[in-house]
Amino acid sequence: MEMIYTIDDLKRYVKGKQDANQTIGFVPTMGYLHEGHTTLIDYAREENDVVVVSVFVNPLQFNDPHDLEAYPRSEAHDTNICAAQDVDVLFMPHAREMYPLEIGVTMTLTKRMGVLCDRTRPGHFGGVLTVLTKLFHLVEPTRVYFGLKDAQQVAVVDLLIQDFNFNIILRQIPTVREPDGLAKSSRNVHLSADERLEAPLIYQALSEARTMITNGERNQQIILSHVQAVINQSRHAEIDYIELLSYPQLEALTSLKGQVILACAVKFEKARLIDNVIIDMK
Ligand code: PAJ
Repeated sequence: MEMIYTIDDLKRYVKGKQDANQTIGFVPTMGYLHEGHTTLIDYAREENDVVVVSVFVNPLQFNDPHDLEAYPRSEAHDTNICAAQDVDVLFMPHAREMYPLEIGVTMTLTKRMGVLCDRTRPGHFGGVLTVLTKLFHLVEPTRVYFGLKDAQQVAVVDLLIQDFNFNIILRQIPTVREPDGLAKSSRNVHLSADERLEAPLIYQALSEARTMITNGERNQQIILSHVQAVINQSRHAEIDYIELLSYPQLEALTSLKGQVILACAVKFEKARLIDNVIIDMK
């Protein structure tokens, strides 16, 4: 595995692979890699000649400086995991390499916004799209791999690729979970022992609501109230949002049809967790 730290070295690598007509699978991450990430890497390995993984904790997408500082990091852990996953390149730029000067142009969402995490973390997706625009230009991937745990991120990356004509195939990978249903996340390490015991209520609530819907429940208020009641069995969880919307458009629904997303964000003392289920009503 090649470790690359600079943009120049990355561009040289990419040029070499393009000249050799090789396909590039790209998995952008913020590191502290777990099985959610390695599942994306497995898909990329399977479908492309070379696999590039980036680890970059992108300051532009954090609204809260404390959250940025507390974000878990381990270069050694990430290097070992990528080597074991047969990754070809691990791109780990320093913040100064990605943003040598204060950035003068950034991306702003005009659709699929004002709901879910964009409502409670304003500016977050602008930061995500800005760093991904840079990374997509640098890696020039054939395929990019994103996890549906962050379903709104998938929806806005889909827009970015369409609206800016990136010649990239977007692969959407299902959420990887712990045996008790909790979605794997780098932030789970911040849960206390008691919070960790209660956190599976999030997916339990979403799964029960999904069963209600597949059994014919169509009253959105009843569905949302059920999710709320189950999560509120936790003594430590504070609900940030629970929403039911069309997917990937993320618009309010007059009736449940097409593809819908039931998504929530829950705050514990030191970790804010998100999860969702996507249901095909057809
Ligand atoms: P990060 O949170 O590290 O996630 C990197 C990728 O792993 C994302 O596509 C995310 O959806 C996926 N992922 C995380 N947990 C997962 C799980 N349990 N199951 C399936 N996929 C999972 O998302 C980011 O980083 C950043 O916003 C980034 C796209 C790198 C831009 O900075």
